[in-house]
Amino acid sequence: MSETRVHGADARTAHQDLHSEQGALRGEHPGRSRNPVIKVADLAWLEFEKPDLDRAEVFARDFGFQVAARTERELWLRGTFAGSPCMVIRRGRTSRFIGPAFRAAERADLDRLARATGSAVRDVDGAAVPGGGRAVDLLDPSGFPVRVVHCGERLPALPGQHPPLLNFGTEHPRTNATQRPPREPSRIQRLGHVVLETRVFGRALDWYLDTLGMIVSDFLFLDGQRDRGPTMAFIRCDLGSVPADHHTLAMHLGPGTGYVHSAYQVTDLDSIAAGGEYLKERGHKRSWGIGRHIQGSQLFDYWRDPDHFMLEHFADGDLFSCDLEPGWAPMSTSGLAQWGPPATRDFLGASPSPRRVRDVIEALRGDNELDPARLLGLLRAANS
Ligand SMILES: [Fe+2]
Repeated sequence: MSETRVHGADARTAHQDLHSEQGALRGEHPGRSRNPVIKVADLAWLEFEKPDLDRAEVFARDFGFQVAARTERELWLRGTFAGSPCMVIRRGRTSRFIGPAFRAAERADLDRLARATGSAVRDVDGAAVPGGGRAVDLLDPSGFPVRVVHCGERLPALPGQHPPLLNFGTEHPRTNATQRPPREPSRIQRLGHVVLETRVFGRALDWYLDTLGMIVSDFLFLDGQRDRGPTMAFIRCDLGSVPADHHTLAMHLGPGTGYVHSAYQVTDLDSIAAGGEYLKERGHKRSWGIGRHIQGSQLFDYWRDPDHFMLEHFADGDLFSCDLEPGWAPMSTSGLAQWGPPATRDFLGASPSPRRVRDVIEALRGDNELDPARLLGLLRAANS
């Protein structure tokens, strides 16, 4: 592997010991666009519909959200950090994920985006959108409505949880005092990322890179099929020299099209664990955790809400500036975590439901990127 010199000192490339064993091979996907339309700054919020807003609010509070606004038709949820709300749940006939809203860095980016995509800039309506907002509504190649928003103001910060004072080895900053992390809901700080499944992974990936200027942190490929390109990408925002979350969006090829999970940052491991005990006591269902991921390094704990949507508490994730190039690794279940219990069938979506079987049949018949070899590769990865 090559070494580069920065300011006269030896600097290592991204692939040396940092986040991947391997970088790209010649001719592989570069993981970024040469000339994107805009560069989004972050996710703003996620949009859902559910028939029962009261039930949604009970889970949301148990999970650690604060209610930013509640009307007859809308429930806006937020974290303690200043900024935009994390999620809006609108009253609807069925429980479904509508799509992500990304945050434009500047108001002028919306005009540029609208011009390039032939769309319009319009007002965002919502009880918790601070200072009024403007948005451009798009459709990604998977068929997801993707909204890019710019809000006039930020929601102010709320009091958060404080990390406890920890004793390490011979360093004892805490003496004559006990450690009692309260068994209470974790306090969500902010929305971290959303993970989507798509039958048109390659097209959708290029769309997010070309249109929203996002860049790839890590690619995964199917074992033995690397020459056919990646089938999963962890994608971050390009904030230049300012480090951004390892992934704000992750996407993988699969027979379904839809939401996989979304993740919310909390203070630390104690908050994840004590908040998890609280969720368990309240009768909620853990999907998988607690553990530490490989791609992104987050401490994680996955839960199911009453509508079976998966939500993640995370802490201590990686942040990369724009100059790190993508890592490449084979897709496998054992490669999901550095430590923790084995990934559950629930987390992997491996239990064959009638809907899953229908998705597979439909995907194999349709005009998309899933074929029998790739399906077999995905099944092998789920069992490896
Ligand atoms: Fe995640």
